[in-house]
Amino acid sequence: MSQTNDLLTAQIGHEFTASQQYTAFAVWFDAQALPRMAARFYSQSLEERNHAMMIVQYLMDRGVDVRVPAIPALEPVPESVTEILKFAVEQEEAVTRQFEQIVTATRVDQDYLAEQFTHWFLKEQVEEVSSMSTLLQVAVRCGDNLMLLEDYLAREPGESSGDPGAPRAAGGAVGILA
Ligand SMILES: [Fe+2]
Ligand SMILES: [Fe+2]
Repeated sequence: MSQTNDLLTAQIGHEFTASQQYTAFAVWFDAQALPRMAARFYSQSLEERNHAMMIVQYLMDRGVDVRVPAIPALEPVPESVTEILKFAVEQEEAVTRQFEQIVTATRVDQDYLAEQFTHWFLKEQVEEVSSMSTLLQVAVRCGDNLMLLEDYLAREPGESSGDPGAPRAAGGAVGILA
């Protein structure tokens, strides 16, 4: 397999890992009676799952023998809202670097179809890092008064989910409710 296809295959695993991590965070928020934070992370988890399945669909379309990788054990959930959000911001920044590496590989491999496919994810990462950083900034400002954070989320709509330019997800994208 080309380096591009190797990295894209690994990225399926990274997206599923992010999905699972966000599910763990959502459950923690839910258990802490923070329903808006929980809803945000349940839907973020589905988005990451959809990202993984977009890469699966792309590789199938290109005739690559797709392997769905195993995911590593999750990091323990940090015991505070701001620590969780810091983790999430760092994770999104790491994913951005992963996609930058994939684009570099597509250029080395002269795989222009893969490069074009990857561009959507670069745009998506700008949004994801930005929205997660904003949430962290607001959470820091709210301090111990987490109800202010819940009010903020009730007031401010999340990122819109239905991007008509999004790549097709294998089996269909899972609907995002919140
Ligand atoms: Fe993602
Ligand atoms: Fe993400």
